[in-house]
Amino acid sequence: MKRWIESDISDKRQEQDRTMITLAITGASGSQYGLRLLQLLAREKMTVYCLFSTASKVVMETEFDATFPKTDSSIPSFLEKRLDCSLDTVRFPTENDWFSAVASGSSAPKQMVVCPCSMGTLSAIACGASNNLIERAADVVLKENGKLILVPRETPLSTIHLSNMLTLSQYGATILPAMPSFYSNPKTIDDLLDTVVQRILDHIVLPIRVSRPWG
Ligand SMILES: Cc1cc2nc3c(=O)[nH]c(=O)nc-3n(C[C@H](O)[C@H](O)[C@H](O)COP(=O)(O)O)c2cc1C
Repeated sequence: MKRWIESDISDKRQEQDRTMITLAITGASGSQYGLRLLQLLAREKMTVYCLFSTASKVVMETEFDATFPKTDSSIPSFLEKRLDCSLDTVRFPTENDWFSAVASGSSAPKQMVVCPCSMGTLSAIACGASNNLIERAADVVLKENGKLILVPRETPLSTIHLSNMLTLSQYGATILPAMPSFYSNPKTIDDLLDTVVQRILDHIVLPIRVSRPWG
């Protein structure tokens, strides 16, 4: 009987692990990658903990030519309009919401994507700073041996950037740079974005196809 209950709990946990994810959008250029990913995860009805760094909001205003909401409570409706999809399975913890599920190994999703990932956040994760909820959530995923996918964007890369990426790769993170590919013959910017987003989806093992595979 006890064994049945234990295996039931473990099945439930595995199912949750597959359908829960943390997505952090930081202040590197290319917030479109992160928002497209959010749209696809929300359409799949995944439970998404979506975290925005303060700098990401400045970058979004610059890249979208739109004013990002000043109040946290307005973010969901703003994004629902922008992404043209329901975000009712998405939660938006704030930067200092230390009681959010993502801040503790006992309840955090086992997978997290930081997309795009700034060099600032990358270095903070590499040294375990945990000074805001994004850094803490990434630290939790690493300590729980979960899947941490970092999508860095910067060019050129300094020795410090490269060294931080090597460190994180050695700690088990996947470094998946925002480097679009051209072999699928993309016609629009959205097509180009999807070449990167598709690689992220491949790594979180979500059976969605938005870009033509190699070969
Ligand atoms: C329009 C804009 C574009 C930026 N692009 C990048 C970038 O591509 N890569 C990067 O590492 N930082 C970039 N930055 C700088 C980061 O936003 C800055 O270092 C910030 O402190 C990162 O904070 P965060 O990691 O908490 O988001 C950009 C800033 C702005 C305003």
